[in-house]
Amino acid sequence: MLKKIEAIIREDKMNDVKDALKELGIVGMNIFEIRGHGRQGGITLAGRSGTYQVDMLPKIQVNIVLSDRNLEETIDAILKAAYTGETGDGLIFVSPVDEVIRIRTRERGYDAVMYPGDIDERKGRGAEKS
Ligand SMILES: Nc1ncnc2c1ncn2[C@@H]1O[C@H](COP(=O)(O)OP(=O)(O)OP(=O)(O)O)[C@@H](O)[C@H]1O
Ligand SMILES: [Mg+2]
Repeated sequence: MLKKIEAIIREDKMNDVKDALKELGIVGMNIFEIRGHGRQGGITLAGRSGTYQVDMLPKIQVNIVLSDRNLEETIDAILKAAYTGETGDGLIFVSPVDEVIRIRTRERGYDAVMYPGDIDERKGRGAEKS
C-alpha cells in the first residue's frame, strides 16, 4: 500500500525536517509554500496604526509518497523535528495513494517510489514487493 504524507510545518522547521528525513533515508518528496490557518484562525499583530489580524499564516507543506511500511517511522521523524510545543506547530495528514507511475520507465507502485540508497535499500528490502 502506498500512502501520502502531507505535513504542514513551520517555515523555520523545514531544514530540521529535511535533515531528519534524509537521515531516515526518505528520498522522494516535494514541498509547497502554503498559507492557511488552524484553530487559532491566525494571529494579531501590532502595527503603527494599531493592531491588525493576519488570518493566513505562511507554512511549508512537505509531501511524501511512500510505502506504508515506512509510514510510522517517517511520521515519528517529522513529529520530533517539527515540534516546538507552541501553537502553530502544524498538522500531518495521511491518505492512501492509488497509483504512482514513473514516466521514463513506466515502473508502477512501490517500484516507482524506490531510490538508490533509500530507507528500503538500507534495510535490504529492495527486491521484495510491498
Ligand atoms: N483542516 C485543514 N485542512 C487543511 N489544512 C489545514 C487544516 N487545518 C489546518 N491546516 C493547515 O495547518 C496549519 C495549522 O497549523 P496549526 O499548528 O496552527 O494547527 P492547529 O490545529 O491550530 O493546532 P495548534 O493548536 O497546535 O496551533 C494551518 O496554517 C493550515 O495551513
Ligand atoms: Mg494553530
